[in-house]
Amino acid sequence: MEKTPRVLEVEDLHTYYGESYVIQGLSLFVEAHEAVSILGRNGVGKTTTLRSVMGLTPPRSGKVTIAGEDTTGWPAHRISGLGVAYVPAERHIFPGLSVEENLKLAARPGKNSNPWTLERVYEHFPVLADRTSQDGATLSGGEQQMLAIGRALISNPDIVILDEPSQGLSPLLVDTVTEIVQNFCVKSGITLLVVEQNYRMALKVASRHYLMSTKGKIAGVATTRELMDDQQIIQDHLAV
Ligand SMILES: Nc1ncnc2c1ncn2[C@@H]1O[C@H](COP(=O)(O)OP(=O)(O)O)[C@@H](O)[C@H]1O
Ligand SMILES: [Mg+2]
Repeated sequence: MEKTPRVLEVEDLHTYYGESYVIQGLSLFVEAHEAVSILGRNGVGKTTTLRSVMGLTPPRSGKVTIAGEDTTGWPAHRISGLGVAYVPAERHIFPGLSVEENLKLAARPGKNSNPWTLERVYEHFPVLADRTSQDGATLSGGEQQMLAIGRALISNPDIVILDEPSQGLSPLLVDTVTEIVQNFCVKSGITLLVVEQNYRMALKVASRHYLMSTKGKIAGVATTRELMDDQQIIQDHLAV
């Protein structure tokens, strides 16, 4: 049987903020078309992991491989150019630009038969279609998250990396975002890496989960089924 290729792999990553040693030897991988989560409490190093993968906070040692390229030390824009869309927790909507301008800036031609276009984004994100000329920075938190995800999709990425997509959203909006991620990332075969404290959402969108304990250490890896069958694992790692 042919092995599924790993499109994203992190090997023995060590990352610092100045003298602060935040990620102390992290390894993980995501196979092509797989949806993987990193679950962990506040402050364990989830965001820093993603920032290291994206070249925003480069690791002091370790290796990052994306789409077969050794991307360790690459600047973020070059990593994005490999077809990686990163949605940070703060969403980073460009202020002073309209919803439409935010989308147009991110648009890249798609390779498949049903690429994301402005029209397709508006069709599936009515909240954005109603606000095309509104300054992106004036959107509500939920609307900004829709715009951030719409902006990721319109880049027609092979890999989507989401940092706490549920953060700050009402339960209803968490459900909407969950459905969007399920329908347009997971089911359409985009490789997904999502970081969450909200394990309910993570279990709905991802099929394999890394449990991060502290300083980027991985305490365990489990499938969604395994976590559903043994809620104690979640209690041990995520309960406050
Ligand atoms: N810019 C920074 N400078 C110094 N320390 C930071 C910075 N960002 C995060 N940290 C620290 O690094 C650790 C991991 O943070 P982070 O990766 O944001 O965790 P998580 O995303 O899991 O909540 C925390 O102790 C946090 O205080
Ligand atoms: Mg974080």
